[in-house]
Amino acid sequence: MSLENIYPIFDTILSRSDKEKMLKQKSIVIWMVGLSGSGKSTLARALENSLHEEGYLTQLLDGDNMRTGINNNLGFSPEDRTENIRRAAETAKLFMNAGLVTICSFISPTDEIRKMAKEIIGDGYVEVYVDCPVEVCEERDVKGLYAKARKGEIPDFTGVSAPFDAPKNPEVAVDTANQTLEQSHQELVKAIIERIKY
Ligand code: PPS
Repeated sequence: MSLENIYPIFDTILSRSDKEKMLKQKSIVIWMVGLSGSGKSTLARALENSLHEEGYLTQLLDGDNMRTGINNNLGFSPEDRTENIRRAAETAKLFMNAGLVTICSFISPTDEIRKMAKEIIGDGYVEVYVDCPVEVCEERDVKGLYAKARKGEIPDFTGVSAPFDAPKNPEVAVDTANQTLEQSHQELVKAIIERIKY
């Protein structure tokens, strides 16, 4: 008799739903898309804090923890952005399958790149468009990057010298040019909690 027959625990593969049941939450990947300066990273952090306060187990993936670590060999050419998003989506999928509410904040500039992320993640991919026109992002220029890009000091800068396709059918969209961040945050939290309630 095989060991698995004596001890079935050795043969049981735990599923995503086993982990969701334990955590009492639905695991999804919230894929936040938007230009630099649109407010996506601020909203991603605020969303994570609100979900944490409500008792959900979360993980945030963004340029700060991906591009400084697993993706530290990648730049901003079209090929490198594709690889950045591919690795981010694969990582997000692992967290999702572990039952976590996973929040991803990446410019993810093209339809093609987002299609790839959606295909990798599959069921559970929720696209959030942090909508803000490039003129407004440029006026805010929080990090001074638009000014540098205009002077030609940063090549391939999204919205200036590299493309950005606005998402056409996001599950959720927030308009940070016409709303306060607080309003966008409240809207986002409401839309997400509906999707992760067990
Ligand atoms: S992408 O396109 O999804 O792979 O980009 P992402 O990983 O989200 O990284 C975006 C942040 O990198 C900084 N940065 C640039 N952004 C756009 N284009 C160029 N050339 C570039 N070079 C550096 C920028 O600070 C982005 O941060 P956010 O948080 O979006 O402002």
